[in-house]
Amino acid sequence: MRVLPALVAVGCAASFATAQRVVSMGIGKTKRPPPLHKRSILQELNNNLTGGGYYAEVSVGTPPQTVRLIVDTGSSDVWVLDSDANLCTSSIMQEEYGGGCIATFDPPESSTYTALSDAPFQIVYLDGSGANGTYFQDHINIGGTEIESLQMGLAEDSTINSGLLGIGYSANVAARDPYPTIIDLLEEQGLIAIRAYSLWLNAYSADMGTILFGGVDTEKFLGELIAVPVLPDGRTGIYHSFAVALSSLTLNYTDGSSDTVIQQPVPVILDSGTTLTYLPPRIADYIYNALGAVDDTWYTGLVYIDCAYLRNESGLTFDFQFGGDSGPLVRVPVNEVVLDNVMEYVEMGLPIPPGMPFADDVCSFGIHPGDQGIYLLGDTFLRSAYVVYDLENHEVAMAQANVNTTRSNVLEITRDGIPDVSGVASQATAEQTATGLPGPGGELPTVTVTASPDPDDGENAGPKTLTAPPAWEVAAVAAVAALSGLMGVGLFVL
Ligand SMILES: *[C@@H]1O[C@H](CO)[C@@H](O)[C@H](O)[C@H]1NC(C)=O
Ligand SMILES: *[C@@H]1O[C@H](CO)[C@@H](O)[C@H](O)[C@H]1NC(C)=O
Ligand SMILES: *[C@@H]1O[C@H](CO)[C@@H](O)[C@H](O)[C@H]1NC(C)=O
Ligand SMILES: *[C@@H]1O[C@H](CO)[C@@H](O)[C@H](O)[C@H]1NC(C)=O
Ligand SMILES: *[C@@H]1O[C@H](CO)[C@@H](O)[C@H](O)[C@H]1NC(C)=O
Repeated sequence: MRVLPALVAVGCAASFATAQRVVSMGIGKTKRPPPLHKRSILQELNNNLTGGGYYAEVSVGTPPQTVRLIVDTGSSDVWVLDSDANLCTSSIMQEEYGGGCIATFDPPESSTYTALSDAPFQIVYLDGSGANGTYFQDHINIGGTEIESLQMGLAEDSTINSGLLGIGYSANVAARDPYPTIIDLLEEQGLIAIRAYSLWLNAYSADMGTILFGGVDTEKFLGELIAVPVLPDGRTGIYHSFAVALSSLTLNYTDGSSDTVIQQPVPVILDSGTTLTYLPPRIADYIYNALGAVDDTWYTGLVYIDCAYLRNESGLTFDFQFGGDSGPLVRVPVNEVVLDNVMEYVEMGLPIPPGMPFADDVCSFGIHPGDQGIYLLGDTFLRSAYVVYDLENHEVAMAQANVNTTRSNVLEITRDGIPDVSGVASQATAEQTATGLPGPGGELPTVTVTASPDPDDGENAGPKTLTAPPAWEVAAVAAVAALSGLMGVGLFVL
C-alpha cells in the first residue's frame, strides 16, 4: 500500500464554541472574510485520477485510529473495515479482489467502542460489491471535529478495500431501522446549524477537493447558486436519494452549433461515490455517435473515444441544466469527461477491441449507459459542479465549480437554508498549488489529504470487472420505483 503523505496542518482559528453567526462576507482577494466559520467543517478530499473515488481521511475511536473512507453522497452508512475482515487477512480474497485493505479499524484498541452485536450490518452497492458485519458505536473525528457515538458498520466480510463515508439521507441506511447518520449527528451535537454540506471535487487534474459541512464557500463557484428540489420517493414521499430533475443536456460546440440530447426531464441521482456518469442508454448512444465513441461496455466495460478530444481546442462542453430553464446550468468541458486511463488498463491486461480508428490514441469516455432506469451523475459530472446538499429543506443548490482555486470564503448555512449568494465572477487561472489547500481566509478546521489506492486495489481482477466503475448506490428496488413513480414511467427511455 502506498504510504500516506504527511499531515498538513491548516489554520484553525475558527471556534465551534461561539454562538455567533456569519453576518457579512468578503469575496475580495485581499479582504479577510469574517472569522466566523464556527459551524462548518472542512474535510479535504483526495482525487487519484483513474484510481476513482474521493477519499476522506478521518479517525475513529479513542485513541483515534486513522481510516480512509470513500465519500459517497449515494449511500448513508459510515462503515469501516475490521482489521480482521476477510479481505484484509485472506490472500485468496486479495487476489480475487485485487489488493488488500487500505486502512482498518481495530475495535479492542478503542476505549469508546460499543458493539451493537444484535444489529447486523449488510450493504450491497449497485455494482455488486458490498460488506457484511455488525454495527457499532464510537466517536469519529472528521475535519478536526469530534462527533460522538456515531453508529457505524464494522465490516467482517467485504469485497471493497476501504470503508465508506455515506452522507446521504438517513432513510437510506442499510439497517432495518433507520438511525441518525453522521450528518444528523453533526447537527444534533450542535457542530453545524443545519443538515447540509457542500461538495467541491475540483478538476480532474487536481489532486483533491473539499467537503464543507454546514457551510458554503463562495470562492469555489462561479455566478449564482441556484436550488432545485430533491425528488422524494413517488409512492411514499420519503426522501432517500439526491435525485433531481435533469431538464436538458446540450452538447455545445464553440463554433456556435449545439445539439440538445435531453429535452424532457430525466430523474438523476447525484452520486459522488460513482466514478462515471450513467445516462439513459438511448441518450448515451446518441452522444457516442455524435463524438465517434465506441461503446464496448458489454465486453471490456469501457466506452472508447479519441484522446484528441483532450487536446482539441474545440471547447466542446456538455451543458447540464436542472429543474427547467431558470434552474442551475453546469457546463462540463469535454476534457473532464474524456479520461486518459486506458493505457493503465492495457498494462493490466485489458484487450482493446480491434478496428478502432483512434487505436493509437485511445481514451475512455466518462458517460456510460445506465441500467435499470437508474441514472447517476457521478464524478465525471460532479467535478464541474459546486453542489450544496440541504437534507433539511430537501434542496440541492448548484453552480459552476471554480476549479483549481486555492482561495476560500466560507459562510455558514443557517436554519434558513442555503444562502442566496454569488460566487466569483470568473474561473480561477493557474492557482493550483501542490496541496490545493485553502489559502488565506480558509480558516477552517481541516484535516489532511489522503493518498488514494492504486487503481487496481479495490476492484475485481480481469478487464470486465476491473473497468466496471464502482456504483456505490445501494441497490434498492425502491429507488427505481421511487423515480419512476415520481417522474412518470414514460420518461424512462430504456
Ligand atoms: C453478505 O451476506 C450475504 C448473505 O449471506 C451474501 O450473499 C453476500 O455475498 C455477503 N457479502 C459479502 C461482501 O461477503
Ligand atoms: C453554449 O455556449 C455558449 C458560450 O460558449 C453559451 O452562451 C450558450 O448559452 C451555450 N448554450 C447552451 C444551450 O448551453
Ligand atoms: C476539434 O475541433 C474542431 C473544431 O474546432 C472540430 O471540427 C473537430 O471535430 C474536433 N475534433 C475532435 C476530435 O474533438
Ligand atoms: C486546472 O489546472 C490544471 C493543471 O494545472 C489545468 O490543466 C487545467 O486547465 C485547469 N483548469 C482550468 C479550468 O483552469
Ligand atoms: C495516485 O496513484 C498513482 C498510481 O497508483 C500514484 O503513483 C500517485 O502517487 C497517486 N497520487 C496521489 C496524490 O496519491
